[in-house]
Amino acid sequence: MINDLKNEIESVKDLFFKEVRKVKSVDKFKIVKEQFISRKKGFLTNILKGLKDFPKEDKPLAGKLVNKLKIQVEEELEKLEKSLINKKEDSIDYSLPEFDSPLGRNHLLSYVKNEVEEIFIGMGYDIADGPEIETEYYNFTALNFLEHHPARDEQDTFFIKNFENRVLRTHTSPVQVRYMENNTPPIKVIAPGRVFRKDEVDATHSPVFHQVEGLLVAKDINFSHLKGTLSFFLKSFFGKSVDVRFRPSFFPFTEPSAEVDVSCFLCNGTDSHCKICKGTGWIEILGSGMVHPEVLKNGNIDPEEFSGFAFGMGIERITMLKYGIHDLRMFYENDIRFLNQFG
Ligand code: DAH
Repeated sequence: MINDLKNEIESVKDLFFKEVRKVKSVDKFKIVKEQFISRKKGFLTNILKGLKDFPKEDKPLAGKLVNKLKIQVEEELEKLEKSLINKKEDSIDYSLPEFDSPLGRNHLLSYVKNEVEEIFIGMGYDIADGPEIETEYYNFTALNFLEHHPARDEQDTFFIKNFENRVLRTHTSPVQVRYMENNTPPIKVIAPGRVFRKDEVDATHSPVFHQVEGLLVAKDINFSHLKGTLSFFLKSFFGKSVDVRFRPSFFPFTEPSAEVDVSCFLCNGTDSHCKICKGTGWIEILGSGMVHPEVLKNGNIDPEEFSGFAFGMGIERITMLKYGIHDLRMFYENDIRFLNQFG
């Protein structure tokens, strides 16, 4: 009987190692494991069950032989399982994108900035930019602000400590002079960017916000070019049906200056309690004017030979108006329930 057992053990062992060599996957591994050591009908279990029929004196040896096989099989299976797990880890490509990760999108302010850029690029404008840490000269002096102009006040402007004559630019207008210094007419640029003012945060104010500046300088440019350009832009941006109105105003760097309104696209002047126009029928959008001769001179351009117009508007403001957003803080809180609605 012992010899029969030895033969059986040898043939099970041969079969086992033959099967093990074929295992290349976890699924196959499970099948082999089941085949040899499953509690109910594994080959090894069967042999173990047969031990009870052995004569008493043969049992210790028979037990030992079967046990040896059992240990061999179990060790081999354990080794095999480990190598399969390692192989699986090796085959993971960590550079692949995660499944189901949500796709990002442009922030609404970037989207609107791009929208504005596209309209002006369509009219042949270039895009320029300038530093956010600006000198007092470019932010104020070169733009014809007098020495004691209230806008230079510490209450409105962030001055940079220990960095003389430097401010965080309060508007994008300094790009006008920087650009004129480095380019010759004809000039046609817009300059979008971040600006800073000492404002308390509320629904319509933030110490950091965005503007787009525009500048056109060439021969024989007059106010009608300004009107035509801004009317075209505003109708492209807010819709063909809006009317555009130019109101006299004052800025140190333009003469004459105008503030530009569009007709209220919510109530068109019919609702005396309108949330946007407050019943006036008009919404103030931007500042503009003919570039002041002093500013042209500061940009090394001869005001006798060239003339131009400029304008500036707040990106947050036009975005809030166009998309019906009532609180500017929404732009910066990064609540994706808000952000996901746009772009
Ligand atoms: N820089 C002005 C501001 O921040 C806006 C502005 C008004 C820009 C008139 C211009 C302009 O270029 O011509 O309030």
